[in-house]
Formats: sequence, structure tokens, C-alpha cells
Amino acid sequence: MFLFSGLSLLLPAYVLVTAQAVPQTIHLQSRIPPAAATLRRRALDPVTVPLADFFLGTDLQWFGNITVGTPPQTVSVVFDTGSSTLEFASTLCGASCDNQVKFDSSKSSTFVDRGTTSSITFSTGVGVDPVVGANYRLTLRSGTDTVGIGGLTVPATSLFLITNQTAKFGIDPFSGIQGMSARAQGLFAGLIAQGLPSLFSLFLTPQAVGNAEMTVGGIDTTKFTGF
Ligand SMILES: *[C@@H]1O[C@H](CO)[C@@H](O)[C@H](O)[C@H]1NC(C)=O
Ligand SMILES: *[C@@H]1O[C@H](CO)[C@@H](O)[C@H](O)[C@H]1NC(C)=O
Repeated sequence: MFLFSGLSLLLPAYVLVTAQAVPQTIHLQSRIPPAAATLRRRALDPVTVPLADFFLGTDLQWFGNITVGTPPQTVSVVFDTGSSTLEFASTLCGASCDNQVKFDSSKSSTFVDRGTTSSITFSTGVGVDPVVGANYRLTLRSGTDTVGIGGLTVPATSLFLITNQTAKFGIDPFSGIQGMSARAQGLFAGLIAQGLPSLFSLFLTPQAVGNAEMTVGGIDTTKFTGF
């Protein structure tokens, strides 16, 4: 059982090369609750989703499904503690994404094309693949759409469609990356804004055991004893 709080960065699958470990300052202040405190939002309940294991000689990465668009299309993503954005293969991507399920933005009534193109380069965490540099490169186009996980949804979530990728990404049995870092934007920031506790936990098992899970917004206390 691994527990991740908002400020932990453990087991990164992919890490943005440009990311810096900058100390974070949390500004605290006390204040008198406003008279309309009864309007305070109700916290969302945690949700648990199954994870599949990317096994390549050893247990490498655990991935699961989110939904994107209206009607929702299923997009498989690795939940990555080393990055903070969401990007996944799209029908704008040619042969380099042919191994993956591609999201079709033209079939989503809520997709908004933001039109900005960019590229990002990743390195990987220890034990995944010690390659640094242009071997892990994604070309992206920005947009927004409704994104969901485990039945929770966030409208107008920032995301990036993959329009090209290097072969290192082409072998992945999932279509994209959902960043979970302390500075995660998009889906998780949106869920926290809706009242979901800023916490997630992972039950990571070897492939032979299976039934790995991620709980978003809480901890599955049935998965361990003695905490
Ligand atoms: C993701 O969804 C697909 C169906 O679209 C399903 O076959 C697969 O088992 C799901 N993966 C996980 C980890 O839940
Ligand atoms: C995709 O990227 C590869 C390099 O990984 C490049 O050779 C190719 O020209 C690019 N394709 C497009 C359509 O940009």
C-alpha cells in the first residue's frame, strides 16, 4: 500500500525533464467564517478504480481508465506522480499512435480546440527505463473537454491531444498520461475544487496478484492493517 499526499512525489513513471524540485510555500491565514457558511460545499466521496499492470519483464507502471468527452470515450492513462498535465493519443496522431486507442475530438460535443501546439520531453523513474532525452517526446495540441474518473466528472478540463510521439511511447499499452504531481492541473484540481479531499492512494500489486486499485480522494482501509 502506497500513500500519496499532495506534496509527495514517489515512484514517478514519467518525469518532465524541465520539472524542478522547488520548495512549496503554503500560506495559512485564519478568518471568520462568512455568514453564508451553510452554503459550504459538501465533500465528494472517494472513488476507487481498477488498475492494470504494464509488465515488461518486471512490473513497470499501473494504468487505468478515465473518460473524455460527450458522449464519454474511454481513455487509458498511466497515473504518473512525476508530471502534472493530461495528454493522450488522438485521431490527429498518425502511424506513431497506431498501437493505441485514439480519442476522436470530432465526436465530442463538449471538446474545445485551444489550438496551441507544443512538445514535451520526459525522462523516466528509476527502474522503468533510464533513458533521458528526445527518446520520450510528445507533440501536443491543447484543448478542453469534460473529463471523468470513477463516475466523477469535471467540465472544461485542460488537456493535450497527442499529435505525434516517439517510438518509446508507441509500445505503451495505454493511450496517455494523467499527471498526479503536487501541482497537478486539470482533472484533479477540478475534483478538489468540487470538494474531493486532496489525497489519493494506490494499491499496487505484482501482475501475478492482480486487482491493483487507485482510490482518489481517500484511502481504502481494507487493503492494509496496522496503520
Ligand atoms: C478500461 O476499459 C476497457 C473497456 O473500454 C476495459 O476492457 C479495460 O479492462 C479497462 N481497464 C481497466 C484497468 O479498468
Ligand atoms: C513524428 O515524429 C517523428 C520523430 O519521432 C518524425 O520523424 C516525423 O516526421 C513526425 N511526423 C509528423 C507527422 O510530424
